[in-house]
Amino acid sequence: MSNRMWGGRFTAAPSALMERINVSVGFDKRLYTQDIAGSKAHARMLGDVGILSADDVEAICAGLDEILTEIEDGRFDFRTDLEDIHMNIEARLTDMIGDAAARLHTARSRNDQVATDFKLWVRDAIDTADEALKILQEVLIDQAEAHADWVMPGFTHLQAAQPITVGHHLLAYVEMFGRDRGRFFDARSRLNESPLGAGALAGTSFPIDRASTAFALGFDRPTYNSLDSVSDRDFALEYLAAAAICAGHLSRLGEELVIWSSAQFRFVRLSDAFSTGSSMMPQKRNPDAAELIRGKTGRVIGAFTALSSVMKGLPLAYSKDMQEDKEPVFDAAETLTVCLTATAGMVKNLTFDRDCLATAAGEGFTTATDFADWLVREAGIPFRESHSITGRVVALAEDKACRIEDLALSDMSAIDIRITEGVFNVLGVDNSVRSRTSFGGTAPDNVRLQIVSARERFLS
Ligand code: ARG
Repeated sequence: MSNRMWGGRFTAAPSALMERINVSVGFDKRLYTQDIAGSKAHARMLGDVGILSADDVEAICAGLDEILTEIEDGRFDFRTDLEDIHMNIEARLTDMIGDAAARLHTARSRNDQVATDFKLWVRDAIDTADEALKILQEVLIDQAEAHADWVMPGFTHLQAAQPITVGHHLLAYVEMFGRDRGRFFDARSRLNESPLGAGALAGTSFPIDRASTAFALGFDRPTYNSLDSVSDRDFALEYLAAAAICAGHLSRLGEELVIWSSAQFRFVRLSDAFSTGSSMMPQKRNPDAAELIRGKTGRVIGAFTALSSVMKGLPLAYSKDMQEDKEPVFDAAETLTVCLTATAGMVKNLTFDRDCLATAAGEGFTTATDFADWLVREAGIPFRESHSITGRVVALAEDKACRIEDLALSDMSAIDIRITEGVFNVLGVDNSVRSRTSFGGTAPDNVRLQIVSARERFLS
């Protein structure tokens, strides 16, 4: 049997191999809600402009609603010989209502149909990501508030650098996820033009009303160029780019949790709910969820690479290559959602070890900068010189295997006479973090202000 959708020109059925490479219903069935919404909007518009009778419109919409229920109840028979979701739905509609179904595809092509469906799907995925990101930010802000003045080492090169507050560290991620939401938001506003009515590529001679279908589907306006409408997948690429950057942030947080929960650091303890044991080593508590979040980032980045490789070099307008757009997006969306929600769960249940963090904060001469700054401020010594004096003080402490604040004043003033008693006021990690009150700095008072600002900017 030749194909029922385009059989007119064909006498033989496609080879089994052709069907196998061509079929997409196995994955694009996920577009059924969007496909039905798009078809209903199209049918109603065709009715409004007098291309379809009111009876046909009613039969089409009722039939599509029935199909929606069939699919949702798991009663719909998806047929691979019908290639994709669009043809599956149309064929079922034809079985149900006959001729009226055959009129639905007037002034429409699968090219504008699939572009519309996919945009609607990606738009929902953006909204899902935004909600999950907001929840994650809220969890991070709550933890930042609970640990606003807990000290920990801040690192550069993963070497202890300067003491910081735990709240400040967590708020860094709140900023990253805020930018992620901004990227998704920008992508959404560029995406939100309707391709429906672009036809196969050139538009249509029927007197359609593209603005009305656009508004019915929640788009801001119709797309401006019919060729671009059916050949554009920027919206999917932008979504994937934003998702890849976001996954990168999740991966960095995952990596920190892996390091922090290790026996060598013991900064945090992951809850049982987000750890696993080892089948062989009874002492182990593995941070599997954090590792998987780090690992799954590879898939999301891979999805962007896959789709941008598909799109490069395609001539205008539609080419079947573009059917390869969906699987990377579906996989990335599912991966991103699970990573965002698992991260929120992990952070929410995280316990910090105050003593370990405080001890580590003071190791590695992390207040050396405070020492050097004090020499600048109190003794009027140029910073480059104070840096070198402080270096000698640190070397002495290293020799004596003690902290800077444990050195005797006489030992220090032997290095430079301008070092006096007052220097002890800036040594010690609590003094150090409390002094960093510059805008965006780590002082607990700042962190509390930043929490108020973050709640206002991201959660209200
Ligand atoms: N399943 C196709 C896709 O995802 C639908 C569009 C097919 N258009 C065509 N002219 N063959 O791209």
